[in-house]
Amino acid sequence: MLTIIAAVAKNGALGKDNQLIWHLPADLKRFKEVTNGHHIIMGRKTFESLGKPLPNRTTIIITRNKDYHVENCIVVNSLGEAIAAAKEDDNPYILGGAEIYKQAMDIADKLDLTLVHHKFDADAFFPEIDKNIWEEISRDDFSKDEKNQFDYSFVKYQKKSPN
Ligand SMILES: NC(=O)c1ccc[n+]([C@@H]2O[C@H](COP(=O)([O-])OP(=O)(O)OC[C@H]3O[C@@H](n4cnc5c(N)ncnc54)[C@H](OP(=O)(O)O)[C@@H]3O)[C@@H](O)[C@H]2O)c1
Repeated sequence: MLTIIAAVAKNGALGKDNQLIWHLPADLKRFKEVTNGHHIIMGRKTFESLGKPLPNRTTIIITRNKDYHVENCIVVNSLGEAIAAAKEDDNPYILGGAEIYKQAMDIADKLDLTLVHHKFDADAFFPEIDKNIWEEISRDDFSKDEKNQFDYSFVKYQKKSPN
């Protein structure tokens, strides 16, 4: 099982200037719970945006740079190598960013998304979710509150099995 995890705005926005755009503590909390103990696979730019490996997870960084090294992380040169490096994990997570999501859509089994019900100015976008390929299997909707300034939903999609 390979799962893409992302927080995606109404217009597909993911981030701007290599940063997340919004602050939604509920999303961060859920992200932490869901990925805890798993391999998390990300592009070099997303890793640099995070700045350090996340505790209690195995961080796999994809780069074309053969000389890239980060302490306590696995560095690979392709998405295929990243999947191979996570092979003992029954559910590794693809953590982005836009470039890596785009390449992973074909091979992922599930999408675990936080949909943020707001449009943002952005320079990184999630790929289109083709409803012929992806079927929504669960949705939990939440209204904004004192901590979370936008309405949001936790939505899971599963890849439809070929007929
Ligand atoms: N909202 C969310 O859930 C979420 C999650 C993650 C990231 N983000 C946002 O997304 C943005 C970053 O996304 P991005 O698309 O700019 O960058 P990215 O996907 O994080 O990283 C791109 C880099 O990955 C490496 N790469 C990509 N494809 C490769 C391949 N096939 N083989 C080897 N290396 C490959 C390259 O690294 P080198 O240049 O080193 O070769 C490339 O420059 C930021 O704004 C971040 O905040 C948002």
